[in-house]
Amino acid sequence: MSTLPSLSPGQAEEVRALGRRAADADGVAALSEQTLLSLAAPEGTVEHVLAYAAGRLGAYAQCQPTDGGDGEGPSVELVVDPPVRRQGLGSAVWAAVEARDPRARVWAHGALPSARGFAAARRLEPVRELHKMARPLTGADATGEAAGAATALPAGFSARTFVPGKDEAAWLETNAAAFAHHPEQGRLTLADLRERMDQPWFDPAGFIVVEADEAPGRVAAFHWTKVDPEQRATTDPAATAGEVYVVGVHPAYQGRGLARPLTALGLAHLAGLGLPEVVLYVDGDNTGALRTYSSLGFRDIMVDVMYSRAVHARV
Ligand SMILES: CC(C)(COP(=O)(O)OP(=O)(O)OC[C@H]1O[C@@H](n2cnc3c(N)ncnc32)[C@H](O)[C@@H]1OP(=O)(O)O)[C@@H](O)C(=O)NCCC(=O)NCCS
Repeated sequence: MSTLPSLSPGQAEEVRALGRRAADADGVAALSEQTLLSLAAPEGTVEHVLAYAAGRLGAYAQCQPTDGGDGEGPSVELVVDPPVRRQGLGSAVWAAVEARDPRARVWAHGALPSARGFAAARRLEPVRELHKMARPLTGADATGEAAGAATALPAGFSARTFVPGKDEAAWLETNAAAFAHHPEQGRLTLADLRERMDQPWFDPAGFIVVEADEAPGRVAAFHWTKVDPEQRATTDPAATAGEVYVVGVHPAYQGRGLARPLTALGLAHLAGLGLPEVVLYVDGDNTGALRTYSSLGFRDIMVDVMYSRAVHARV
């Protein structure tokens, strides 16, 4: 087993292949977008733990340092190749992760039975939940006339699309303010934003920003949608779900009725592309957002659970 500060392109490819084998077997991906992006991260950004079994990569964990001084340990994703599970590989990799930082917290995407059994065996407790919610898209969404999901903004606000090269700083400011208490989203930097803008799925037409008449050039709120072109190419295009990637309202403009029409504006964009469904991810303790999305017709389809050593459990 080795713990590395960076991966070679070949090692990164081995991890992607392991991730694909596990996702095929589990029906859910253990490695998230951020983790896959960080396979190519410069030395020292994240830590990689690799364990080989029978000559090929058998287990992988990536530790993202999310400790912003609030005592939170690294955020970890861990995956074991299906043919070599139940042989102690996951436990060995996790022991290496915890030896480096006992506060480490590991994501179980979809809270699979294997992950729940593993967490119980390793005395890990749930500390965070992430809900994946979904809702069908209709013709009424495309025209902004869906019942309960109208796109008309309150007076004094107007919507337009994000302009690359112009809106970055204003967006980062509003994102940081809107997600000040969010462990990942609130800490996005200009480099993180540019990394996402360089991805094949990035489309400014699906990145809606709202301006207040009183503060032109500033971002009062935004709704960033995402459509994965890889998924569109490899599955039936008509079956691809669009995503409410992130919705944020600057605290100065919260409580003014922006969230629902802003969400509906993104749904109108996705429905206009002919997509049949929309998904989103929201933290289990974000009751306001959960309520907004439920009232817009979203329902839970999966819950991700983050586990940590019992002594550090918070919920
Ligand atoms: C969860 C996972 C990492 C476990 O890896 P592993 O190498 O099979 O785990 P280990 O062999 O070290 O198992 C340790 C103990 O965990 C428990 N466990 C592991 N898999 C389990 C399962 N499918 N059902 C019930 N308990 C399980 C058992 O108590 C096991 O001990 P035992 O085999 O002696 O009974 C692996 O199944 C995996 O990659 N799952 C998909 C990705 C994922 O969910 N990652 C997040 C993990 S929190």
